[in-house]
Amino acid sequence: MEKRVAVLPGDGIGPEVMAEAVRVLEVVGRRFNHTFHTEYGLIGGAAIDEKNNPLPKETIELCESSDAILLGAVGGPKWDQNPSELRPEKGLLAIRKHFDLFANLRPVAAVPSLIHASPLKEEIVKEVDMLIVRELTGGLYFGKPSRHTDQSAVDTLVYTREEIERIVDKGFELARLRKGKVTSVDKANVLESSKLWRKIVEEKKVDYPDIEVEHQLVDSAAMKLITNPSVFDVIITENMFGDILSDEASVITGSLGLLPSASVRSDGLGLYEPVHGSAPDVAGQGVANPAAAILSVAMMLKYSFGLETEAAAVEKAVNTVFEEGHFTADLAGKDQRALSTKEWTDKIVDELDLQFVSN
Ligand code: NAD
Ligand code: IPM
Ligand code: MN
Repeated sequence: MEKRVAVLPGDGIGPEVMAEAVRVLEVVGRRFNHTFHTEYGLIGGAAIDEKNNPLPKETIELCESSDAILLGAVGGPKWDQNPSELRPEKGLLAIRKHFDLFANLRPVAAVPSLIHASPLKEEIVKEVDMLIVRELTGGLYFGKPSRHTDQSAVDTLVYTREEIERIVDKGFELARLRKGKVTSVDKANVLESSKLWRKIVEEKKVDYPDIEVEHQLVDSAAMKLITNPSVFDVIITENMFGDILSDEASVITGSLGLLPSASVRSDGLGLYEPVHGSAPDVAGQGVANPAAAILSVAMMLKYSFGLETEAAAVEKAVNTVFEEGHFTADLAGKDQRALSTKEWTDKIVDELDLQFVSN
């Protein structure tokens, strides 16, 4: 197979974890006889610095001519005081909107060899296996008006029926491939957009009689995510609730540095990126955990290219390296030696080579 992959490293630890993710992609290509052409583009702060635009048109063109997009992370203190249109985060929102990537899939599963790293008790985390399906191109992030003065500020939370229907369908379809349960998370006791959301979930569930459906208010969902997370299978929720709940869910696994994501539409191009941000507090030290970026490559192989065996090989390598007790600083115990970003990926590469030799 021959594919073109647009690589957008971004800022902070983005370039550090992307370099390792691309290295793993290259090993997969070599081992399984595929050619992945990687081409690099600017996004976020890096693009502001060079092009005065967080999403330059060259980057859009590169992505348009690619089969999938891999993205690191954007943002950092350097640009925090910029006007809204010149913030790195705007580039990320714009690329999601431009390509209509309305469904953001964020899997969260306990890794047996990492249970020690979670601040939660073993019996709470050990059975966790959920998928957060976050609406990504609507809601508060995109509603107009959106502005502030020193005296007042406004953000607008708007959802159309069509926007809700397509994400709800996506969630139901994904639940069919999993344990068959959907938890729709909203704030229907207060918000009008959530009332429409809940109504549409009720309408849609008739089309999916095989799926168990429950509604959960977002505040208590946040609580249940920590007290009893194994009850969740697929969570469907709007943009901002999904953003917050997915970072919260990362605590179950032990580190934000573990969670990958896929941003997709019904067909065509997909964008793959870690759930975490640019981590300015550890950027430049070579210590970031590249697992989320590497697992995002696995999601790309599976969802964009249909390469299930290759994706499984990457996931297996990640699990094996953890089982063998190799961790980056975010996961290492007090008396363990933490590996650098690159050293940890070396282990993944060795493991992929080993898998290949033994097959
Ligand atoms: P963050 O996700 O960057 O970091 C939160 C904490 O988790 C930090 O302590 C960080 O060191 C740690 N962390 C995150 N990823 C890690 C990894 N791979 N390995 C080890 N530790 C890791 O969130 P933040 O600090 O709130 O935001 C920093 C910047 O990132 C902001 O500018 C924000 O807008 C941006 N951001 C970007 C994205 C994205 O590009 N998708 C996502 C979230 C935040
Ligand atoms: C994420 C990030 C982004 C979001 C920011 C950086 C715009 O937090 O991908 O989770 O809120 O969607
Ligand atoms: Mn986030």
